[in-house]
Amino acid sequence: MNKAAEKKKIGVLGIIKRLVPVVCCAAPGFMAVDIMVSILHGISWGLQTTAQQVFFDRVTELSLGNTALDQVFLALGFLGCANVGCQALNGVSNFLPTVMNGKIRGKLSFGIHQKIARLSPVMFEDAARLDDINKAEQGKNNAIGFVNIILMILTFYLPYFLYMGGYLFVLKPILVVAILLVFIPTTLTQSLRTRIFANLEDQSAPMRRKCEYFESCITSREYFKETRLLGGFRYFKNLYLDTLDTMQKIKMRSNMKVNWFELSMRMLTVAGYCGILLLLFDALLKQEISVGAFAAVFSSIGSLYNLMEEVICRHIGSMSQNIGTLQNYLNFLELEEESGSVDKAPGWGDVVLQNVSFSYPGASTPAVKNVSLTLHKGETLAVVGENGSGKSTLIRLICGLYQPQSGSVWMNGVDARKLTAKARYQDISAVFQKYQRYQMTLRENITISSPDREWDERTLDEVCKVAGVEQDRVTFPDGYETMLSREFGGVDLSGGQWQRVAIARGFFKKHSMIVLDEPTAAIDPYEETRVYRQFAEISKEKSAIVVTHRLGSVKIADRIAVMKEGRVCQVGTHEELVHIEGEYQRLWESQERWYE
Ligand SMILES: Nc1ncnc2c1ncn2[C@@H]1O[C@H](COP(=O)(O)OP(=O)(O)OP(=O)(O)O)[C@@H](O)[C@H]1O
Ligand SMILES: [Mg+2]
Repeated sequence: MNKAAEKKKIGVLGIIKRLVPVVCCAAPGFMAVDIMVSILHGISWGLQTTAQQVFFDRVTELSLGNTALDQVFLALGFLGCANVGCQALNGVSNFLPTVMNGKIRGKLSFGIHQKIARLSPVMFEDAARLDDINKAEQGKNNAIGFVNIILMILTFYLPYFLYMGGYLFVLKPILVVAILLVFIPTTLTQSLRTRIFANLEDQSAPMRRKCEYFESCITSREYFKETRLLGGFRYFKNLYLDTLDTMQKIKMRSNMKVNWFELSMRMLTVAGYCGILLLLFDALLKQEISVGAFAAVFSSIGSLYNLMEEVICRHIGSMSQNIGTLQNYLNFLELEEESGSVDKAPGWGDVVLQNVSFSYPGASTPAVKNVSLTLHKGETLAVVGENGSGKSTLIRLICGLYQPQSGSVWMNGVDARKLTAKARYQDISAVFQKYQRYQMTLRENITISSPDREWDERTLDEVCKVAGVEQDRVTFPDGYETMLSREFGGVDLSGGQWQRVAIARGFFKKHSMIVLDEPTAAIDPYEETRVYRQFAEISKEKSAIVVTHRLGSVKIADRIAVMKEGRVCQVGTHEELVHIEGEYQRLWESQERWYE
């Protein structure tokens, strides 16, 4: 378990301490104005009660002949100003967050994307880490609401409650205690809610991810042809509905528990509220408070109670429902990042693997076991072996995508662990086994590997020629500007054509070393030979690693590394290996007749 997973549970105070700076720093100017308006707004609510008392007292005094009419008008003016001021501030404090939150959302999303870029690619092979990433998006949205509520409590509700507390204390100290007692049951309900919903989020996040995956198996373009043709539609639909059903049941159970508790606590609150009114009435009869004070408190106590309930039930309630997602967001922000600090590319030279072993997260056996191998500067190395023998994993280690758990990878004499991702990848290009099909134009599909590289049509023609992307007007009606996506109103390509585009993309990036993981699996053998010949021509001066199952193509390589069960069991040229009894000879003999 890594550091982030161990720290999964973060208390509410911890969440506040870490989230408030993150959100506030996203729009500091807006935040400062919002806080000021909110404080004034809170005080203006309290002032209304004082203004009411003054007004009612003046009216009472006027009826008894103890004051003049202009004093009543003065009090009325004060009451009017307090009301208008409160409404105006209310309008401003409602409007500000709509603009401010949009800005903050954009900044936090950007932060998430940057964080993902700094994570080690191996994290994406780990189901638990994928959950963290999935949960982070949700947590980010709730984080903004959470911080808004915290600030509103501190800058609006707190000044108002303090004002009212002071006001009531001066009138009759027991009133303050009575009001506090009213809110204890409500607070208890909320703490139960917090606990239950934090657990709920933990249980439902993996299920939500499964649901989304099953849904995509039925509806997404990538899967639906296969799932329908092979009859998997009903299977995925049932899995989707079962998971949805389980999720609903868990949610329902949690809600029932909270609602029953809340109902009984509300009964207690109503009893407390009635008690306060009795206390007030008693004080009035004993002439401990004036008629004006009684009337002001009587009319304000409703809104005081409503505001308190609003803060505890609505705001703290929604906050507590989201506590789980906030913890996940913070856990995500604290996921371990790649540790390398040397930003300067190591330059072109030998790549040396020393006793390298690597296991995927959660796997019981290593995918690569104790491999020592050198890719010499300018050499073309072919890697062959059966399915699952560790070829793709080995080349991900060579190009620094994964870091070995033991042993080390040296790039031109520099330990790859010390390098930043940017430095490691600077001189390397690759065409992976699972290459991407970007729903963009042909030009973008090629140039995306090196967006900063200057190019003209001739550059594109050259890489397309090597990769075998034929520029006919039927396949690419708009030339390089042809949109390669049916969804966006363009064309789709065959598997082999897509693969050639991926190869062109790999060649377009300026590189000293290129890694090709079965780049021609979807291309016919005749075309493959041509691609490899062209490739050998342009790679003469560069280092290259080619993974392939078709042994006819490995002859272009200077050396061949043969893999079996995660180990490199043979290294040599085709001529050497084919005459030695071993894995290569066995593979060659099984394919030989194809080439005869
Ligand atoms: N993401 C992953 N998580 C866990 N195990 C994995 C993962 N990817 C690969 N493996 C395992 O690691 C081993 C090596 O896989 P790898 O993809 O490197 O083999 P390969 O030689 O490239 O196979 P192929 O010829 O089919 O492409 C296999 O046993 C595989 O099951
Ligand atoms: Mg592979």
